[in-house]
Amino acid sequence: MELLYYFIFCFSIFIISKLLFQQKKHFPPAPTALPILGHLHLLKKPLHRTLEALAGQYGPILSLQFGSRSVLVVSSPSAIEECFTKNDIILANRPYCFAGEHLAYNYTTVGWSPYGHHWRILRRVTAIEIFSSNSLQTSSIIRNKEVTHLVRQLYRGSDGKLQKIELKSIFFQLTLNIAMEMVAAKRLFGDEDFDAELREKFLEMKKGQSNPTMFMNMLDFLPFLRWVGFVGEEKNMVRFHRKRDAFLQGLIDDERRKRMSDTGKAMNGERRKKTLVDTLLCLQQAEPEYYSDDIIKGIIMVLFTAGTDTSALTLEWAMSLLLNHPEALQKAKEEIDNNVEQGCLIEDSDLAKLPYLRGIINETLRLFPVAPLLVPHFSSEECTIGGYDVHPGTIVLVNAWAVHKDPKIWFEPTSFKPERLEGIEGEREGYKFIPFGLGRRGCPGAGMSMRVVSSLALGALLQCFEWARVRPEMVDMSEVQGLSMPKAKPLEVMYMPRPTMINLYSQL
Ligand code: HEM
Ligand SMILES: *[C@@H]1O[C@H](CO)[C@@H](O)[C@H](O)[C@H]1NC(C)=O
Ligand SMILES: *[C@@H]1O[C@H](CO)[C@@H](O)[C@H](O)[C@H]1NC(C)=O
Repeated sequence: MELLYYFIFCFSIFIISKLLFQQKKHFPPAPTALPILGHLHLLKKPLHRTLEALAGQYGPILSLQFGSRSVLVVSSPSAIEECFTKNDIILANRPYCFAGEHLAYNYTTVGWSPYGHHWRILRRVTAIEIFSSNSLQTSSIIRNKEVTHLVRQLYRGSDGKLQKIELKSIFFQLTLNIAMEMVAAKRLFGDEDFDAELREKFLEMKKGQSNPTMFMNMLDFLPFLRWVGFVGEEKNMVRFHRKRDAFLQGLIDDERRKRMSDTGKAMNGERRKKTLVDTLLCLQQAEPEYYSDDIIKGIIMVLFTAGTDTSALTLEWAMSLLLNHPEALQKAKEEIDNNVEQGCLIEDSDLAKLPYLRGIINETLRLFPVAPLLVPHFSSEECTIGGYDVHPGTIVLVNAWAVHKDPKIWFEPTSFKPERLEGIEGEREGYKFIPFGLGRRGCPGAGMSMRVVSSLALGALLQCFEWARVRPEMVDMSEVQGLSMPKAKPLEVMYMPRPTMINLYSQL
């Protein structure tokens, strides 16, 4: 107990001295803070809603104290513009926190690495091997194939009649299959010959991943908790990391074994499908000191973490919106019927001809940005935003969700209008629609996710099936706090194959 009083004392001194010091400069408005906790007591879930309400009270540039950490919350296009233009480099860092150390190979993954040489190399490698138009072209085969599997699975499951189905898990299977196939040329779901043990391991790993406290937890804000013995969270993290690490290492070892046996077969001109693990192992051969196994695991992890939930949840939100707006659903269907060749399943290459469909995904990301506060940024130097001084070492949260819903910026912000975003581009307009973040640290997977995963899968479902709500009431659109922003109630729908598509089904 004495120890606790001691820390309370120290922290109070610390905060008082900080307040005194702050008066000399021009700092953003802040609610009254409690000693030690700062504003932690104000934070209710979901966080983006709480921060929106606070910004409504104190202004779009708001200073908060999460325990021992200074936080700046930004919620207006002009402030966002300043963050990602003149301050882009200063803010291109991530905060130090336990997750970065224990879950991100000690800040060496692309999402967690501080801005600098190492991060640039990772961005370059992933840009070339995953996100370049060449790589996207190559991986489009995988996506088209997985979407075909999805349609076939739904078609067979329907038996030609109206059926009820839960779509959330279907969308997760789709995105996980795509990721696994890009990484290791294996399917996780729907293949009898897939290693059941590996799938088990994978699913267990996924369970831990969506735990929101993994990201920024109390230990990050109240580090003294750790000194007085609260280490449970940290232990959980380490345990979870071990499982995930073993899974990823397994994928690498597997590929190594195959390569060994390949050297024998190479004579016959046999070549396996080139996988991401394979590519990265080639880089390792060329530069072994740089591309350690940990770096490789960090890269493939990106596909399983950043790349799957985001797209699956976006698909779920999009479908929910369409069920509540049957006229938009109808319009999208007509667009597809008029532009995709009769009797052919929609493909990657058709998407350019389907602006309304892409508009639906855009509008879904506006209303339900699955990373509502983007990913936390961190200031490495003193800077100014909106005329306010910002200390080095401040965590910067950008409330994309609040900006996307702001009635000062959008006409009827809560209504669903897929055509409203057409043609808005970078420059000034761009700062009001930022589901993928902006600047150097912006999402490298935006193109892949937008074009391919979301629009392609959604397009195929609209092309091949009729959809309706399970009950006459509107689909419930509330969200819960997660690592990303999941829908509170998994989406259930009624569906039926479209009779006009009968020729297509016979080819699947
Ligand atoms: C609907 C889908 C997606 C959304 C809404 C989304 C959103 C975001 C956001 C908001 C950020 C943080 C930007 C910032 O720091 O300001 C981010 C970062 C990132 N995303 Fe995505 N993302 C999506 C899909 C993907 C996909 C499919 C991949 C990869 C396959 C991916 C890989 C990444 C990576 C690696 C980063 C970290 C970049 C860095 O720190 O340098 N994302 N994403
Ligand atoms: C991460 O790196 C730092 C400094 O390089 C080191 O002190 C720390 O022990 C490392 N943490 C882990 C979990 O490896
Ligand atoms: C989708 O949003 C982007 C802005 O990020 C815009 O440039 C594009 O034109 C929009 N597309 C459609 C079809 O609305």
